Amino acid sequence: MSWRAWIVPEKGAPAALAERTDAELAPGDVTIDVTHSSVNFKDGLALAGRPGVVRSFPLVAGIDLVGTVAATEPGVGAAGGTASVGDRVLVNGWGLGETRDGGLAERARVDADWLVPVPESLSNGQAAAIGTAGFTAMLAVLAVEERAAISGSAPDGGLPVLVTGAAGGVGSLAIALLARLGFRVTASTGRADAEGGYLSALGAATVIDRAELAQPGRPLRTPRFSAVIDSVGGVTLANALAQTEYDGVVAACGLAGGSDLPATVMPFILRGVSLVGINSVYCPEPRRRAAWQRLATDLEPALLDRITATVPLDEAGAVAQRILAGGVRGRTVVAIAG
Ligand SMILES: NC(=O)c1ccc[n+]([C@@H]2O[C@H](COP(=O)([O-])OP(=O)(O)OC[C@H]3O[C@@H](n4cnc5c(N)ncnc54)[C@H](OP(=O)(O)O)[C@@H]3O)[C@@H](O)[C@H]2O)c1
Repeated sequence: MSWRAWIVPEKGAPAALAERTDAELAPGDVTIDVTHSSVNFKDGLALAGRPGVVRSFPLVAGIDLVGTVAATEPGVGAAGGTASVGDRVLVNGWGLGETRDGGLAERARVDADWLVPVPESLSNGQAAAIGTAGFTAMLAVLAVEERAAISGSAPDGGLPVLVTGAAGGVGSLAIALLARLGFRVTASTGRADAEGGYLSALGAATVIDRAELAQPGRPLRTPRFSAVIDSVGGVTLANALAQTEYDGVVAACGLAGGSDLPATVMPFILRGVSLVGINSVYCPEPRRRAAWQRLATDLEPALLDRITATVPLDEAGAVAQRILAGGVRGRTVVAIAG
């Protein structure tokens, strides 16, 4: 059987949509008919042939995959195994689209251990709309909640939570999750004029221009935020640390603005601020499933649909260019079948 996939042919080369056959499926014990994938920032880099994401060539791009189990190797699905033919499943992380063939394809073969059942309340398209971005946002929200529980503070009790890269995928979903849970949210964006209304509709109480956080500042400033979910890195992250209140938590998710961290230890040793790293790729299985269960209950489906644009498989390459140019709002789902 032949099927189409976005393939990155070699280092530095952009991906192209090409035909593959079942004989070329990756090693693994579960074959999946992919129904949906998505375009994350990482997919933008991979599809454009930029360095840092794809580390094995040639490779099928796509860090998100949602679909139906088409076949399993003997032993999988029996005696408490993780997949049976016909199950709706999702995969994110584990090197998908980085070192292992990914989800921007009509078919894929993966390890059974990587599968998460698609929560009953979500369609495959909605699971892809959440995707790695929403999963990452949920892991960051869990870090914020855990810190709030330790310090005994109520979600709406004090200073707001700052979300940077607000109009992007991780940012949009973090705002929606936090607002639903009762946190007051300050959204930082470079597109306040164009996307201010969108961010308010997601639940942001205040929208600020990201330029406010983009200039190097003092190591400690007046506390403005109880916690931070940051997709930007660099000076923005340093300024966020400097303005987080005593005992607050800063969840570092991304590097859309830079991978450096020009900060001092002052927020840590004088304010007890915690800097928590978020890694969605190798998140252990129990926390992964717990996060997906929370996503199924904590996100309003209608709101999820509002932040999502859907494109066919052959348009993924064009979306990649737009996401790298910072021109994509929320999430873009790639509808492949079903
Ligand atoms: N740790 C993990 O496991 C994990 C998982 C998923 C993603 N990530 C990382 O998280 C980041 C966001 O991913 P995403 O998929 O949400 O990407 P995205 O949809 O492209 O959103 C990124 C947002 O960052 C802001 N931004 C872009 N360029 C910027 C710049 N030069 N300076 C300041 N802000 C800038 C923009 O928001 P505004 O237009 O609102 O300013 C943009 O929408 C990426 O770095 C990605 O690699 C990490």
